[in-house]
Amino acid sequence: MAVKKKKTSRQKASPAVRERGTISIRNVTKIYDPEGVNVMAVDNCSLEIEAGEVCMIVGPSGCGKTTLLNVIAGFHSLTSGEIYLDDELLCGPDKPLANQGADRMVVFQNGALFPWKSLLDNVAYGPMVQGILSKSDARDKARDMLAEAGMIDVADKFPGEVSSGMARRAEIVRALINDPKVLLLDEPYRAMDALTKSIMHEALLAMYDRTKVTIFFITHDLEEAIFLGDRVVVMTTRPARTKKIVSVKIPRPRDYKLLSSEQFRLLVEETKDAVHEEAIKAFEAGERELA
Ligand SMILES: Nc1ncnc2c1ncn2[C@@H]1O[C@H](COP(=O)(O)OP(=O)(O)OP(=O)(O)O)[C@@H](O)[C@H]1O
Ligand SMILES: [Mg+2]
Repeated sequence: MAVKKKKTSRQKASPAVRERGTISIRNVTKIYDPEGVNVMAVDNCSLEIEAGEVCMIVGPSGCGKTTLLNVIAGFHSLTSGEIYLDDELLCGPDKPLANQGADRMVVFQNGALFPWKSLLDNVAYGPMVQGILSKSDARDKARDMLAEAGMIDVADKFPGEVSSGMARRAEIVRALINDPKVLLLDEPYRAMDALTKSIMHEALLAMYDRTKVTIFFITHDLEEAIFLGDRVVVMTTRPARTKKIVSVKIPRPRDYKLLSSEQFRLLVEETKDAVHEEAIKAFEAGERELA
């Protein structure tokens, strides 16, 4: 079944931007170990993420956010439902586990750079190992992309020689060198202080402006969600379903003056109310911790 592609106002406004991947999540349910522990993590969840959209996912701890990301990425199978990437069925009833592919690149909370390779060689690794580029072409492309991201001075350093923020930026460049349609991020800046986070946000938005890749970004930080997102999807307590979608109609490029605006504050409040409601339910149900 083909997914009907909608033209967004963003795409109409900038025809040069090519489509990066619409994700269509349809009635997805995920039950871990149905014969044993039988944990329903996602229940009949539907969500359409437009090509080039920055879609932020928030919700109580343990509600099923990472599970959904893992199903999209092809790390976990689904129990029922379907997920499409543009017109391609990633997973569904006859194919519960999506293939893992360079069209969907994942950046996790805990860094995954090879500590024995320089940042440059980490970034060059993907296209080289997949045989898409020769070693020297991959290194040239990696150098160009690191330069574009303002990281040329640290390109030859090893992950242990740079700050965690710098390493995290390199990881995103490493994901983007594969020219993915979708970037899947699971709380990539969770352990960072507010100032480092703000630098990360600016760097991510700069990379997004260059690529217009579709972004599926899980976070517990509601200011981060509003600052970065086109929409913020609030998930219910486990099992995850979409509870509320907050549209962030704030023009880009965005800068940090936004954080003190009334419009920003009201959007954070609106999101917080919805998350809080679900976090209380999770707490009362004995889930691990509040969001
Ligand atoms: N492999 C697994 N087997 C059984 N249960 C699992 C497995 N992975 C996750 N779960 C359970 O599924 C539920 C959803 O977990 P998930 O990690 O998706 O939540 P989350 O929303 O990402 O939480 P957090 O905000 O804490 O990262 C939790 O109850 C978790 O314990
Ligand atoms: Mg998680």
